[in-house]
Amino acid sequence: MRCTSISKCSFLLPAIVLLASGMALAQSPTYKIGRPPTPEEYKTWDNVVGADGKELPPGSGTAVEGAKIYAAKCSFCHGKTGVEGPYPRLIGGKGTVNTPTPILTTGSFWPYATTIWDYINRSMPRDGEGTLTPNEVYSLTAWLLYKNDIIKETDVMDQKTMVELQMPNRNGFYPEIPESTTKNSNWKPHWNQAKPAPPAAPAAK
Ligand code: HEC
Repeated sequence: MRCTSISKCSFLLPAIVLLASGMALAQSPTYKIGRPPTPEEYKTWDNVVGADGKELPPGSGTAVEGAKIYAAKCSFCHGKTGVEGPYPRLIGGKGTVNTPTPILTTGSFWPYATTIWDYINRSMPRDGEGTLTPNEVYSLTAWLLYKNDIIKETDVMDQKTMVELQMPNRNGFYPEIPESTTKNSNWKPHWNQAKPAPPAAPAAK
């Protein structure tokens, strides 16, 4: 079959369009829409708190204040004592992480108190995200830590005490993979290692 113009060769069109758009992409790295974010906008998005807590704002709180805030703003989703739900259980499970039926909570599982602060600050209460003040978030974090037997009811949680606190599961995660290990071709991450053979089926009678 011969075709003398593009319209006669319509079956070629998709290929031509793809080729052309590929060329356009390669030539122009911007799409000529939108604008770069302002430094203020960057600041409001760049609010993730890491383990070293350096992004934590000034403020403080204890479990005593946290209990009241929890009862008013959190208990109807997480349960009166943080155990009942309907939404994730926040309290308890101490010592269960390495058992066949682990109960993973902020107390038993999470390695850093600063992560609890960060999570509550950015995503709780659900449907009212971003409405809590820093002091309220410190108080709620303190309440969760107190109820998980990690601190005392009157211990003040602030930028300093939160970073110093050693959470029970602080060392329960796989450490960073050292470079020397990844260079070794025999090394496989644990999730790629062969699973142990399942137990043999009982002999037929
Ligand atoms: C409207 C219901 C609702 C309210 C109110 C609410 N939460 Fe949550 N919360 C959730 C849901 C749903 C999740 C699980 C979200 C997910 O895994 O994506 C969650 C997850 C969490 C987690 C993480 C639990 C885990 O181990 O993964 C914490 C901590 C938490 N909420 C704290 C709070 C605090 C503190 C408040 C009160 C300020 C609060 N929540 C209010 C629904 C709610």
